[in-house]
Amino acid sequence: MLRGKKILLIIGGGIAAYKSLDLIRRLRERGASVTPVLTKAGAEFVTPLSVSALAGDKVFTDLFDLTDEAEMGHIQLSRSADLVVVAPATADLMAKMAHGHTNDLASTLLMATDTQVLAAPAMNVRMWDHPATQRNLSQLGADGILFVGPNDGDMACGEFGPGRMAEPLEIVAAIESTLVQGPLTGKRIIVTSGPTHEPIDPVRYIANRSSGAQGTAIARALAAQGADVVFVTGPADVPPPAGVQVVRIETARQMLQAVEDALPADAAVFAAAVADWRVASASGSKIKKDAGRMPVLEFAENPDILARVSQRKADRPALVIGFAAETDNVIAHAEAKRARKGCDWIVANDVSPATGIMGGTENAVHLITADSREDWPRMSKQDVANKLAQRIAEALD
Ligand code: C5P
Repeated sequence: MLRGKKILLIIGGGIAAYKSLDLIRRLRERGASVTPVLTKAGAEFVTPLSVSALAGDKVFTDLFDLTDEAEMGHIQLSRSADLVVVAPATADLMAKMAHGHTNDLASTLLMATDTQVLAAPAMNVRMWDHPATQRNLSQLGADGILFVGPNDGDMACGEFGPGRMAEPLEIVAAIESTLVQGPLTGKRIIVTSGPTHEPIDPVRYIANRSSGAQGTAIARALAAQGADVVFVTGPADVPPPAGVQVVRIETARQMLQAVEDALPADAAVFAAAVADWRVASASGSKIKKDAGRMPVLEFAENPDILARVSQRKADRPALVIGFAAETDNVIAHAEAKRARKGCDWIVANDVSPATGIMGGTENAVHLITADSREDWPRMSKQDVANKLAQRIAEALD
């Protein structure tokens, strides 16, 4: 699947760099060629000799003679690849990428490239959770950088949590799904997923029980068909799929902004469970418990993202798909919703507790269009997603 593909692999300075040696082997086994770039810090963890021996190619480092420029300039180096992979992407490399620093070969390549970049972060859990890293992550997602991982687990530093670099085969899978050619190649599709969190004050919020499972499966299925997916997700239980551009948001208004920023697109799938209301004026400081007195919360209506995008004039996606989770009169309510919101299709399902669909792994849906209705049998959420992706590919053909 990767035969003939050229990967520029930037190895940052973290203990996970040892996994990048295995990554090189896995990529070459699959027919890809790997041009390695080792940062100065990366060379503290793995040697240039082992990297170049595994890659079967020269390793570029900061010692790389920039007077060699005429032969193989760093601009050309950054552009001749089919994909630039940063593994491990350390907190420092992510910060440089987010802020446009160019003080070494790796950061210069990342600024000069016009090729898609896929990053596999690896760092201590506190560094990952630090607001600076999370800010950089959001910025890089918005800039179109794709991510794989990090995973949860034991870390070399003795702590536990998110920050472990994805395993080499997971990175290979993300590379394959990024480079995949399929019926949706060249199509840009926005997918919203997960719940939204609406703040009451800095520590409390209103949320819902959406796990994000169905939206994540849809984004994965679309990427597997070659689509360029912008995945706008609230705080979900399941991790985002590999090979998609992830934009993390918390509130409905942020979700609307992220979706509008991602336009124009060929299609948009609104699988998120967006909170209908927010607290009109969230408190800037924690609301104190005051014996005997209850706080009074005033609500304001959130924007309906699906309806807004459906009603856009100049840049309305050719196919807009909404979801309808109902507990009674599923079909009638969904048909009315399709007309009211102005979307093209509605994927409707019955989420009565007896169905076990909410929070479960299976779904039974109806696909409702302007002039037809299909009742799909009960199947896994991933199979629903695959079938929907196939329908989307046919519709956009
Ligand atoms: O109106 P209701 O919430 O039932 O509609 C569900 C559909 O509308 C879903 O596709 C959901 O993602 C979308 N929606 C939205 N913005 C909202 C509310 C719902 O995009 N504020």
